[in-house]
Amino acid sequence: MSTSEILIVENEPVIAGLIQKSLESVGYAVPAIAASGEDAILKTAHHLPHLILMDINLEGDIDGVETAERIRNRFHIPVIFLTGSDDDALLERAKITEPFGFLLKPFSTNELKAAIEVALYKHKMEEELREHRDHLEELVIERTARLTIVNDQLQDELAHRNQVLEEQKKLAAMKEEFLQTVSHELRTPLTSIIGYLELLMAQSAGPLNEAQEKMLQTMMGNSDILLDLINDLLDLSKLQKGELPVAITPVRVIAEIARVMESFNQEAKNKNIILAFNPQASEISIVSDKEKIQRVVSNLVSNAIKFTEAGEVAVAVHSSDTGVRITVQDTGVGIPEDANDYIFEKFRQVDNTASRKVDGTGLGLAITKSLVDLLGGTIELESQVGKGSAFTVEIPSR
Ligand SMILES: Nc1ncnc2c1ncn2[C@@H]1O[C@H](COP(=O)(O)OP(=O)(O)OP(=O)(O)O)[C@@H](O)[C@H]1O
Ligand SMILES: [Mg+2]
Repeated sequence: MSTSEILIVENEPVIAGLIQKSLESVGYAVPAIAASGEDAILKTAHHLPHLILMDINLEGDIDGVETAERIRNRFHIPVIFLTGSDDDALLERAKITEPFGFLLKPFSTNELKAAIEVALYKHKMEEELREHRDHLEELVIERTARLTIVNDQLQDELAHRNQVLEEQKKLAAMKEEFLQTVSHELRTPLTSIIGYLELLMAQSAGPLNEAQEKMLQTMMGNSDILLDLINDLLDLSKLQKGELPVAITPVRVIAEIARVMESFNQEAKNKNIILAFNPQASEISIVSDKEKIQRVVSNLVSNAIKFTEAGEVAVAVHSSDTGVRITVQDTGVGIPEDANDYIFEKFRQVDNTASRKVDGTGLGLAITKSLVDLLGGTIELESQVGKGSAFTVEIPSR
């Protein structure tokens, strides 16, 4: 360890000399002795000692207390006051300057050394603390600055995202509006076309030859498909706006399902698919909307036949705690698990590519789900790709 340098501030040269001797005898160095306050400040600035021994009772313009105060403000150097027995008033003032110790004259070399060591140690600790505090403060400032930047960036991003979201919402609303208007505007002329087709087919405008009749039939078939699509679009938009009225009446579920199944007989036959409906009960009656239940079952059976190449489409119906549970099961292509999330959304299909063999727009399940929701029910799907699918609908009785 290097020798500690102690500046002595004492206006009586004899005492100063004695103190210097005793300091040097225990290993300290004395770079200078100052005889007045002003002198002490100059020498402190010049030597930057490790510690100052300051006579509290200095002669000159500034006394020891004042000098210590100024040194404390300019340099971080510990000061020990040397006091006489009659310095009480000065002592009170000195305390305020937070000195590192007091030594009452006369003192022994051992007392001097002890006081210096304690003061140096205390000072060292304080310096370390101060450094830590400064470092901490720097860290806090730096982190705060960084946080502010990140926060600003986040705010910007959030604002940007909100803007994009708003725009997307607006666009979606515009798309809906457009779809609805177009569908609506298409329906009127299409209904008129179908009306005239019917008249032509009824030979009201004169007899038809076989070729003409065939052409008209094709026209009629396509017009029906188009009208179905337009009606689906309009219904879906009404459903999503909550504008489709609900007609609640007693519903004989088994009889209604049987009716729906019958309407698919020909389609199933064409594809060589067995349509199975063997209800366990003779009838299950609930209170709900008959047409909507028919439509739900019809959409599910239509899909089941459409997406099945061979095997059967079976419909099961059971009473449940709240109403009725209907399951439409097929032995078709199946639906991959990840498609579960989106096939109930409109225009969403599993195989959306041009190579797709079957037709359809992807509205059926969206309408089905909305209808089931409207009736207060639930729809669930269980499926295995290559094995088949089962859609289960629960509809409560009102
Ligand atoms: N029983 C099923 N087996 C296999 N895939 C199915 C079945 N039902 C629905 N899907 C898949 O879910 C998609 C969405 O069905 P959805 O009924 O909504 O539309 P779509 O039948 O293609 O057209 P739309 O019903 O409007 O005529 C289908 O395109 C098909 O990929
Ligand atoms: Mg469908």
